[in-house]
Amino acid sequence: MSKQAIDFDKNTHVSVNEYDQSAQLALPGYEAMHTMAFACLKSRLPEVANLLVVGAGTGFEIAKYGKAKSNWQILGVDPSSKMLAIAQDRINQSELSQRVQLVQGYTQELPVAPLYDGATCILVMHFLPDDGSKLSLLQSIAQRLKSSAIFVLVDAFGQKGSDELDRMISILKAYWEETGFPTDKSTKLLENFNEGVFPIQEARVLELLQQAGFEDIMRFYTGLWVGGWVATKS
Ligand SMILES: C[S@@+](CC[C@H](N)C(=O)[O-])C[C@H]1O[C@@H](n2cnc3c(N)ncnc32)[C@H](O)[C@@H]1O
Repeated sequence: MSKQAIDFDKNTHVSVNEYDQSAQLALPGYEAMHTMAFACLKSRLPEVANLLVVGAGTGFEIAKYGKAKSNWQILGVDPSSKMLAIAQDRINQSELSQRVQLVQGYTQELPVAPLYDGATCILVMHFLPDDGSKLSLLQSIAQRLKSSAIFVLVDAFGQKGSDELDRMISILKAYWEETGFPTDKSTKLLENFNEGVFPIQEARVLELLQQAGFEDIMRFYTGLWVGGWVATKS
């Protein structure tokens, strides 16, 4: 079972109540990335579709998809009860509760039927080490998708300790000065990045996706240290 390396209920780099605001300041193009992820889904999914959102977090993406597509049914899964409580409020406020279900737990614990037309896993897999846990997460998603379903993956990527990632982190620090991301928070985020985030090089992302049963993989987004890939379940 691929548990989370950073428990968002206990030890997180930001309090769950501050997650949305911090994500906007810390992650380059956070909102635009979600719009691009939605565009990937919209370009491929029919008007009536069911979608699996892995690592639903505070429900930002679910609300976005649910408001834009009135006939999409969405299931969000996440181990964090605190993140899901915020997601549930957001879903209620957006009047989406008829079409959105939230489940506390892991993808591996979900039933293998029904199969979904699409899935997203945004800013989740980098919390898992590359010791079989990342692959297990991707396989658990693939097992719950129809053949030809669309999958959107977004994750921090790069080789820890490499010159390239070190240079990227210098750029990030400069970026955070521009967005006004507070120094105490950025320091904590980088500490957590060193201890509890396990980025891998893009070539390894592609390899894991293929091993899990995905094909036609294309990068659709780069925001400094974060990449987004769209793929098709074989
Ligand atoms: C950085 S947040 C991303 C939330 C949302 N997808 C977004 O784009 O803002 C990561 C979320 O993944 C959840 N998570 C951690 N490990 C997980 C796992 N193994 N499976 C599913 N979700 C996980 C955390 O509880 C947290 O809510």
